[in-house]
Amino acid sequence: MDQKTRWNTTGGNAWVEMQDLLDRAMAPFIPPLIDGVAGSVLDVGCGTGSTTEAVARQADRAVGVDISAPMIEAARKRTDAAEFIVADAQSHPFHERFDFVISRFGVMFFEDPVAAFTNLARAGTHLRVIAWRGAEDNPFHTTAERAAKPLMPDLPDRTNEAAGQFAFGNADRVRGILTQAGWSDVELQPLDVESTMPEDALEGYYTRLGPVGMALQEANDTTRARVIEVVRPAFDPFLQNGEVRYTAACWIITANSENP
Ligand SMILES: C[S@@+](CC[C@H](N)C(=O)[O-])C[C@H]1O[C@@H](n2cnc3c(N)ncnc32)[C@H](O)[C@@H]1O
Repeated sequence: MDQKTRWNTTGGNAWVEMQDLLDRAMAPFIPPLIDGVAGSVLDVGCGTGSTTEAVARQADRAVGVDISAPMIEAARKRTDAAEFIVADAQSHPFHERFDFVISRFGVMFFEDPVAAFTNLARAGTHLRVIAWRGAEDNPFHTTAERAAKPLMPDLPDRTNEAAGQFAFGNADRVRGILTQAGWSDVELQPLDVESTMPEDALEGYYTRLGPVGMALQEANDTTRARVIEVVRPAFDPFLQNGEVRYTAACWIITANSENP
């Protein structure tokens, strides 16, 4: 399934349905993303708009762009302090130049990352984005697929650099992409965020999101029950006092563009 289809169907719909849980789980990423961000701001892959809403409180103007129509519909319901566009950020002709281009986990899904960041270098002056480090650094996020693999052998391999959650794990590759795309002063700083969710939200999380969640949307009841039986105990190491606790291993990536 290509990214546009994914985010306009099962993937995007799941994010809309899980919006409250994801907003809470990902709130700790907002301060490092928007601290000092001012002027006009483009939020790339803004999803249901929580970061766009947050930055709109401090910026002169905030615009969120996302390829997912259902997610932008949810973003528009969230706030009218920002503008939202349904478009592919890889190629959309942004007709203005923003002071900042920001993103929380919205830039790893580009099929042609150099072309996408070349387009974004035309769209803005300062880049600040948060992306995941590699799958090996984020064992919580691969727990479900590792446990379910014997039952679901066709789950995608996410240890490579294909478009997806972990595409930006390799710092040298990211530096190369941004430099080729015309960005300068490229810096990647590790950002480790201690994250939580209530234990009773865990089943909804792995049965709706990620590769296992996506595959379960098409599975029959028997497979679904067997997968839950195998996957649920695999998360035991992350449970503490009624909460799920894990470290989110990310990069905060900054760069500048002088592209007029
Ligand atoms: C992991 S979600 C993050 C959403 C949001 N930034 C957040 O933190 O809540 C990734 C987002 O990137 C969007 N996306 C993927 N490819 C895109 C593209 N080419 N152009 C614009 N948005 C894209 C998806 O639709 C999705 O909303």
